[in-house]
Amino acid sequence: MLRLLFYLLSSIFIISAQPFPFTVKEDDASVNVTFGESKVIARKAPWQLQMLLNDQPILTEAVKSGKQLGFGIWDGVYLDIYEGYLFRLGWISHWYNAKNITSWSSSNHSVSLLVSSDDPNGRQINVTLFDFEERQFRMNATVVGSNASDINRFSIGFSTPEEEGFYGFGERFTKCNQRGHRVGSWLEDGSWGLGLFDMATSSLRVPAGEESTYCPMPILYSNFGYAIQFDTYYRTVFDLAKTTDDVMNLEQETDQLNLIFFLTETPPEAFSKISKINGRSLIPPLWEFSPWNQIHDENSSVTSVQRIEDFFFKFDIPCSHDVNTVHFFPDGGEKGREDELKAQNDKLISLGVKSTAYFNPMVKTTYAELYDDAAAKGYFLKNQNGDIYNYTYEGAMSFFVSQVDFTNPEAVSWYQAQLARAVNLSFHGWMYDYGEYTPYDSVASDGTKGLEMHNKVSHLYQKAAFDYLLRLDQTPGDSYAPDYVFYVRSAYTAAQRYTWAQWTGDPSSDWSYASGLPAQITASLNIGLSGMPFSGSDIGGFEWYVDLAPDEELWSRWTAAGCVSGLMHEQGGGKGLGPKTHIFDFPNGTSTWRKFAKLRMQLFPYIYTQAHIAHETGLPIMRHHILHFWNDVGAMNQEHQFMFGESFLAAPVIEQGRTTNWPVYLPSYRSSSIEGPTWVDVSSNFQYDEDDGRYRIGSGKYYDGGYDAFIDVPLDRVPLFALAGSIIPIADPRIMTLNNATNSSVITYESLKHLRYLWVFADKEFNATGHCWDTNLYQLIHSKADELEWFVSGSPPGYTHILQIAGPWTSSGLPSQVLVSGGSGLKGADGWKDLLGSNSESFYYDKEQEVLWVQLIEHTNATIVMQH
Ligand SMILES: *[C@@H]1O[C@H](CO)[C@@H](O)[C@H](O)[C@H]1NC(C)=O
Ligand SMILES: *[C@@H]1O[C@H](CO)[C@@H](O)[C@H](O)[C@H]1NC(C)=O
Ligand SMILES: *[C@@H]1O[C@H](CO)[C@@H](O)[C@H](O)[C@H]1NC(C)=O
Ligand SMILES: *[C@@H]1O[C@H](CO)[C@@H](O)[C@H](O)[C@H]1NC(C)=O
Ligand SMILES: *[C@@H]1O[C@H](CO)[C@@H](O)[C@H](O)[C@H]1NC(C)=O
Ligand SMILES: *[C@@H]1O[C@H](CO)[C@@H](O)[C@H](O)[C@H]1NC(C)=O
Ligand SMILES: *[C@@H]1O[C@H](CO)[C@@H](O)[C@H](O)[C@H]1NC(C)=O
Ligand SMILES: *[C@@H]1O[C@H](CO)[C@@H](O)[C@H](O)[C@H]1NC(C)=O
Ligand SMILES: *[C@@H]1O[C@H](CO)[C@@H](O)[C@H](O)[C@H]1NC(C)=O
Ligand SMILES: *[C@@H]1O[C@H](CO)[C@@H](O)[C@H](O)[C@H]1NC(C)=O
Ligand SMILES: *[C@@H]1O[C@H](CO)[C@@H](O)[C@H](O)[C@H]1NC(C)=O
Repeated sequence: MLRLLFYLLSSIFIISAQPFPFTVKEDDASVNVTFGESKVIARKAPWQLQMLLNDQPILTEAVKSGKQLGFGIWDGVYLDIYEGYLFRLGWISHWYNAKNITSWSSSNHSVSLLVSSDDPNGRQINVTLFDFEERQFRMNATVVGSNASDINRFSIGFSTPEEEGFYGFGERFTKCNQRGHRVGSWLEDGSWGLGLFDMATSSLRVPAGEESTYCPMPILYSNFGYAIQFDTYYRTVFDLAKTTDDVMNLEQETDQLNLIFFLTETPPEAFSKISKINGRSLIPPLWEFSPWNQIHDENSSVTSVQRIEDFFFKFDIPCSHDVNTVHFFPDGGEKGREDELKAQNDKLISLGVKSTAYFNPMVKTTYAELYDDAAAKGYFLKNQNGDIYNYTYEGAMSFFVSQVDFTNPEAVSWYQAQLARAVNLSFHGWMYDYGEYTPYDSVASDGTKGLEMHNKVSHLYQKAAFDYLLRLDQTPGDSYAPDYVFYVRSAYTAAQRYTWAQWTGDPSSDWSYASGLPAQITASLNIGLSGMPFSGSDIGGFEWYVDLAPDEELWSRWTAAGCVSGLMHEQGGGKGLGPKTHIFDFPNGTSTWRKFAKLRMQLFPYIYTQAHIAHETGLPIMRHHILHFWNDVGAMNQEHQFMFGESFLAAPVIEQGRTTNWPVYLPSYRSSSIEGPTWVDVSSNFQYDEDDGRYRIGSGKYYDGGYDAFIDVPLDRVPLFALAGSIIPIADPRIMTLNNATNSSVITYESLKHLRYLWVFADKEFNATGHCWDTNLYQLIHSKADELEWFVSGSPPGYTHILQIAGPWTSSGLPSQVLVSGGSGLKGADGWKDLLGSNSESFYYDKEQEVLWVQLIEHTNATIVMQH
């Protein structure tokens, strides 16, 4: 039903649509669409859109000419200068602004507003609002009228006050809060950082500058609570109060605008809705969360198996993943070595280590065995003339490749058969590299043009591996990914549906904020906020053309950061002027790596719990503070510290030369309804035991949120604070691998998982709670003045619980007795080593660390009696 407007009449239309009801009301001034607590007001003349939640304005369209709703024509040329980098030389030759609503119509599912424009050709804009849900709807805008096809730009702008910050946008290296910046969404091959020449400005990423990213995701979160997502694969640009102080402008480089609005009150509320739309990751196999090592040294005849036995086992360094990266694509690096690789992989598997290979979506033109066959069958992207597209790989210095056309189902099957060859050689996944190079002028077999395919290809490329691996899944249909790790470099919105690991590409081996260590942390925080929960960077960096090879300090700091990342991925290889250094080359390097590898493994039950949370809620392992502390301005602008899961705050050191007074901002909820939080310093109170690599916690002072804490940061320490009141499940320090091993001398997680350590960081009132993916609840309750009650529920049978309770011991009294059900008291042990070795239920109070140890074998519950 299309209705002309009668300005004197006021009418009401109530539409009961499924699934979410909305009403449309009209008067002289506006057309109002109400759905649940939300309302969209479309003013008739002059046109202006406003969105409200509970009658409070959330978004108000800008009124400045050229900044509000409008469409136009960009004239210019594209220059594909270097693979993936598209230079756009041109300008907007025509721009037309929205003017007045001339008519509107509605259906059960949508409301369409026809809006006049100042286009002399009389073209109008059709603004359709649809898919209404609680605090959420979509909006399409298209051009109506003759020859609308020359339109290639569409945009809308909203007013933004100075205090507003903008987050998300996929993997971004130089900033978390992008206010004052322009953020385009176009997959690109990272950057060649300028290393030490970078004066800590963000504009020195080369060649694409601060916009460059392997993983753009056009999703915007405001710290005010709402969010906006583009629903398109075409390039989009957010101008976040850069060209106009008080306007946030969203532009799409097509003849339409496709947006999803979330009129939510807090960033986590928006996050939860967006993660429902975009999908969530499967739970990765355990070994994804072990330390990863590039075990094999290309310059040495020592095999990976020898290296595991003679180095990792000898020095008691846990390892479950050998990052082999033998290049199946683009040129068949495995050819002629198949038997050797399979034998090696099988031997490694017997030792508890799984290997991954390397794939990308390109085939070298001279790799005749594969190329000629695929070319003949039409499995590659074509150019405008219908010939196979080829382009150079890593610049003119290198060779020519063609890119697999993943819109062709036969090409996908063929590609999956190539992946199967690696699986048949006992590889358990691969680095899934590249995906950013689709030329803008290429044509796919289903007709998709390069300008759309460029971003879309990462989806199709990932889905090819995903679909193949699902066929190998031993437990199909559950929440767990198959037992393979494929880690991707490029991605677009919703990639988490098809992947369960992402790494931040090729960092420069330096301290730069543009592309070094600090930038990688920022990138992981941004990609996590945008939906991919498991991200990490190449420890040690990758490129050092401009820098010196990484030194011990950089290696140590990066290792520490890796320990608290989604992936702890050591990068022994890389490109630079000469052979790369390795952390194990340095005097303290082996011991530093071991310390962090041991910490990572002990944290595994906690980390794997966060992986389950990511599957259920979308929340990433590395969480930007805006997901928890959106009211705290001090937290909002942090770009290198983060919540490491639900209970820890990690603040890796990213500054060269700094070993004391490292500032850690401890956020506050700053909310009238929630107090706190209170923080405890975990890492400053750690005791590390060289023998088996065990970390023991200690009681420290309590910190209120809202301030910086300044702590000492020797090279082997990663600053870690816990929310007071947390209980962290911990694994036995002797575990060497998270995989099973047929070689019985290898200590596996499986063999020691029944020893469940619990780090209890009681709050000031001596309460704490926690959980593990395999246990519903751990709880410590200060039930009576002189008693603490300890409860466990939902734990698998046969577990021994070893508690380390840190808390306000001296002020609340000292533990004198631990009673289990039946009222029997546990015997006291002579020390924590005695307690662990006793194999019986006992307790020990460590005066130095101010920690109570309790070992419970038969019992899960206990009462701790305190005495003053
Ligand atoms: C539309 O919303 C505006 C703002 O809330 C209000 O002033 C106006 O009366 C509404 N019009 C109708 C027809 O509901
Ligand atoms: C928009 O409406 C105003 C006020 O009714 C009118 O003066 C103007 O001519 C209209 N403009 C267009 C482009 O329809
Ligand atoms: C619109 O909704 C009404 C009432 O639910 C239903 O009878 C009608 O078939 C729907 N129309 C369309 C086109 O879906
Ligand atoms: C506007 O778009 C909607 C949704 O695509 C469509 O149903 C409607 O017919 C369009 N209106 C005009 C005037 O083109
Ligand atoms: C909105 O636009 C998208 C992309 O062009 C299209 O697929 C979809 O059908 C449109 N929906 C409506 C309701 O107009
Ligand atoms: C629209 O098409 C007509 C006829 O083809 C042409 O004369 C006119 O220049 C076109 N308008 C625009 C804005 O391109
Ligand atoms: C690349 O494609 C062009 C155009 O189709 C062709 O002439 C050329 O031989 C190809 N180069 C290689 C190395 O295959
Ligand atoms: C290596 O470790 C020793 C002992 O902890 C320490 O004294 C020394 O300063 C460290 N060296 C470097 C280069 O960090
Ligand atoms: C190890 O083997 C046990 C027993 O077969 C099995 O339940 C468990 O899932 C395996 N663990 C891993 C990590 O494969
Ligand atoms: C925390 O401890 C106090 C006693 O100190 C107790 O009254 C309160 O119920 C506890 N809170 C929780 C959430 O268990
Ligand atoms: C321990 O306490 C929890 C929580 O009250 C309860 O669910 C569980 O059954 C208790 N376990 C035993 C063995 O009593």
